[in-house]
Amino acid sequence: MLKVSHLQKSFLSGSHRNDVLKDVNLEIHDGEMVAIMGRSGSGKSTLLNILAGLEQADCGNYYFGSTDVLALNVVHAANFRKHNIGYIIQNSVLIHGKNVFNNIALPLKYSKHSKSQIKQKVSFVLAALHISNIGYSPVEVLSGGETQRVAIARAIVQEPKVIIADEPTGSVDEETEDDILKLFRMLNEQGKTIIIVTHNQKVADICDRTFYMKNGSCNLIT
Ligand SMILES: Nc1ncnc2c1ncn2[C@@H]1O[C@H](COP(=O)(O)OP(=O)(O)OP(=O)(O)O)[C@@H](O)[C@H]1O
Ligand SMILES: [Mg+2]
Repeated sequence: MLKVSHLQKSFLSGSHRNDVLKDVNLEIHDGEMVAIMGRSGSGKSTLLNILAGLEQADCGNYYFGSTDVLALNVVHAANFRKHNIGYIIQNSVLIHGKNVFNNIALPLKYSKHSKSQIKQKVSFVLAALHISNIGYSPVEVLSGGETQRVAIARAIVQEPKVIIADEPTGSVDEETEDDILKLFRMLNEQGKTIIIVTHNQKVADICDRTFYMKNGSCNLIT
């Protein structure tokens, strides 16, 4: 369902050209859970940004089902994201001045869910991530691990078809890591496609397949 071919992306810094993605080819099927690993700076977040429709590639193809994502303009790309993708960005930032509940509720408000639907959906993800106790805390006071879980809750509350997570267990203890992985597994069993960038072999071990990014390409290792 997600097919990337010959994807290229470079960044210019001064006169230097950094060829981050040189020839990325990737096929991820409906309902799969895959891990993407690779050294720091190998282009993992850059690739996820493109998969989420947040960043343009220089050339290549990216089809999401029959949608030619790279051909979408900014407005259509935003709509594509809203309807299909839950993206947990690396080092996610929450919206200050709003409590945990309202941060998670935000995407549901944008998509015009009723108050009772919002309450039910937000309560469910809070419970699944074991953070119901901080539902009404201001986000400014949360620990790193709590912030991470709220960011995950916000990305999955709309039940998107595809969940893209950039180091979702980067700043959490082992127990929290287990909670997060259990939740991803449950979502996957419900049919969600999940793409996780991770440095953690334990995370990769619960995925169906693992890709490794190196020298601008992304290859299957298991
Ligand atoms: N907007 C940008 N402008 C210029 N260079 C960028 C930009 N985004 C990323 N890069 C460069 O592209 C390379 C890949 O970055 P990326 O964030 O994709 O790596 P990564 O594999 O996610 O690393 P990490 O594991 O540390 O998160 C890095 O050298 C980075 O400096
Ligand atoms: Mg990264």
